[in-house]
Amino acid sequence: MVADWRRVGQSVAVVPTMGALHEGHISLVRLAQARADRVIVTIFINPKQFNSASDLAKYPRTDDADRAKLIEAGVDLLFNPSGDDMYPAGFATTVSVAGVSDGLCGSARPGHFDGVSTVVAKLFLQTGADFAFFGEKDFQQLKVVERMARDLDIPIEVIPCPTVREADGLAMSSRNMRLSPENRSIAPRLAAALKETANRIRTGVPVAEALAEGVHEITAAGFGAVDYLELRSADDLQPLTHFDRPARLLVAAWLGDIRLIDNIPV
Ligand code: PAJ
Repeated sequence: MVADWRRVGQSVAVVPTMGALHEGHISLVRLAQARADRVIVTIFINPKQFNSASDLAKYPRTDDADRAKLIEAGVDLLFNPSGDDMYPAGFATTVSVAGVSDGLCGSARPGHFDGVSTVVAKLFLQTGADFAFFGEKDFQQLKVVERMARDLDIPIEVIPCPTVREADGLAMSSRNMRLSPENRSIAPRLAAALKETANRIRTGVPVAEALAEGVHEITAAGFGAVDYLELRSADDLQPLTHFDRPARLLVAAWLGDIRLIDNIPV
């Protein structure tokens, strides 16, 4: 199909996903449709990026609803490969991006970004798309994918897309549907704490102090462990101890057995 589109000079965008589609995913589709003649959505729950078999088993699967949403959105092609299509017997290659994969989710989830880089490199090459749309919701992933495509000379433009939130501020995520009603009411406090911490940093409160207060707010709201709350430089994710350049504030914290992540610009 892609070869046919190319023959008549049409441009192609890809939106990689793991399904359980929500408005955040669909916003990527709409931005892709505005930029390219044809849009491919991929749905593949990539076993290589999960840290535990139970997290993989618990990942939501909503195939029929996903198909209906993609048809309604007017997507041109759904690419939904099987595990054996992607990783046939003998598969032996790993794509590993250094630097931007370190720390943050890279420490909390060992091997996660190798899994992401490997599958995304494959999806880029399989689809041969001109553009790839990624959410800022997964900011470190976006930086890893940008670096990977540049380093491997894959001729694709990676386009960042803003985080879509629920009315109460909670960043949309496929994992939100697994929150208990009580934890669902606590969850938006993560975004609120990010905002307050960012405001403190902006008004000159020392970074370490602002971060410590932020962690306190998150745990006081009812979250369990805070995997990280960090200020990083917005372009290359270098850790920042002083707010002296465009930055990103990133957080990961546990609510029951669900790990939520979020981030905002500072
Ligand atoms: P998944 O979590 O399904 O997310 C697919 C894409 O949707 C990612 O680019 C993600 O950043 C974006 N997204 C998720 N929630 C969003 C929100 N609230 N607002 C805007 N964009 C949002 O991320 C993955 O899948 C996988 O790691 C993948 C890249 C597909 C590789 O397996």
